[in-house]
Amino acid sequence: MRILLVGSGGREHALAWRLAQSPSCRALYCCPGNPGTAQVAENLPVKAEDLADIVQAAKQQAVDMVVIGPEDPLAAGLADQVRKAGILCFGPSAQGARIEADKAFAKELMRGASIPTAEAHIFTDLESARDYVLSREAGVVVKAAGLAKGKGVFVCPEPYQAVKPLEQIMRDKVFGQAGQKVVVEELLTGQEASILALCDGRNLYTLEACQDHKAVGDGDTGPNTGGMGAYSPTPVIDQAMMARVEREVLVPMLDAMNRSFGRYEGCLYAGIMLTAAGPKVLEFNARFGDPETQPLMMRLRGDLAAAMELVCRHRLGEAELSWDPRPAVCVVMASGGYPDKYQSGYPITGIDQADAMADVKVFHAGTALRDGQLVNAGGRVLGVTALGETIAAAQKRAYEAVAQIHWTDCYYRHDIASKAIS
Ligand code: AMP
Ligand code: GLY
Repeated sequence: MRILLVGSGGREHALAWRLAQSPSCRALYCCPGNPGTAQVAENLPVKAEDLADIVQAAKQQAVDMVVIGPEDPLAAGLADQVRKAGILCFGPSAQGARIEADKAFAKELMRGASIPTAEAHIFTDLESARDYVLSREAGVVVKAAGLAKGKGVFVCPEPYQAVKPLEQIMRDKVFGQAGQKVVVEELLTGQEASILALCDGRNLYTLEACQDHKAVGDGDTGPNTGGMGAYSPTPVIDQAMMARVEREVLVPMLDAMNRSFGRYEGCLYAGIMLTAAGPKVLEFNARFGDPETQPLMMRLRGDLAAAMELVCRHRLGEAELSWDPRPAVCVVMASGGYPDKYQSGYPITGIDQADAMADVKVFHAGTALRDGQLVNAGGRVLGVTALGETIAAAQKRAYEAVAQIHWTDCYYRHDIASKAIS
């Protein structure tokens, strides 16, 4: 199969790396990719948001399947356009992507299907939202309803703390259109897990569970980011809990989507909080997680390209995938200042040494080549990922690899996967 992968982050490097090793993948292109994907695929100078140009590139390269990584082109309808051009597409329609791009819509679907989730109220004007949070006695979580790169969620243990984010989102419009609607929901407590499943519209194949680290600082402190690290598997999800999440969350969501808009083809991602009352959904994403994909691809065995094709052909039941039993830990190395302002263009050294270590893979996210020199060019720059016999061993190796890599102001958390070890 000839495949075109859309996106340029760490998730896409991990997917490209695994796709390139798939026996059924004969050619691989990335739009636009990054210096990491260039090692395993041919990068094409087409941006992920230029939908018509991507379809054009897919035709030009005579690809059999397009795989869409990020949420923005999904929400903009890229999958619909690719399918209209007669090309297989791994990724849901614009309608399907609404489960992520419109948190109010996702809440409605969940409510209609009795899927356990935080109780929520939806607001379109600041006054009502402010009055509501100030009338509450328990903590709340404020979420911009639209796409905000993982930064639109504010956890407020005291209700008054919600006023500032509400003002920023609704009055100052810091997330633009994405903040037109705001979801205010009850604050849940518990351990979190990311459960991802391949989905062909009728069948699900649940991937191994992972845990993400969304807050920027050690000990889950500071603002939320796109994710500062992840590991898989996670001890908080045993077989019984996985079966429960499938039964109470994934299967009813699949049914709800079929009733609402039809077939969902791609990766269905459920962010779950394991509360005292059972698993509850924090969010759905219409794509693979980033950085969850990095440890998942490190552990996945079998022909990913073939499995994705079976999703597109609605024959997921025939997919043959398996898992390396060893855990994988991914530490994200970020530009100092992320998720706020940061400086880019600093030369990066040591990636080759880290990559040469056994059972280590350095996935590129925000890197660029300037005059032949690799530099940081985004908030999240690298996903340094390692396998180990135990989670502790994988963590140790990942941090040994991190220690090889340097650039000015580079920043990373020191406690990725520590929760699973203590
Ligand atoms: P989301 O993007 O909706 O998954 O939210 C990002 C992060 O905010 C989650 O990973 C949680 O750590 C936190 N969060 C979201 N919703 C809630 C909630 N209802 N209660 C507590 N924490 C939450
Ligand atoms: N790591 C969280 C996400 O991909 O949304």
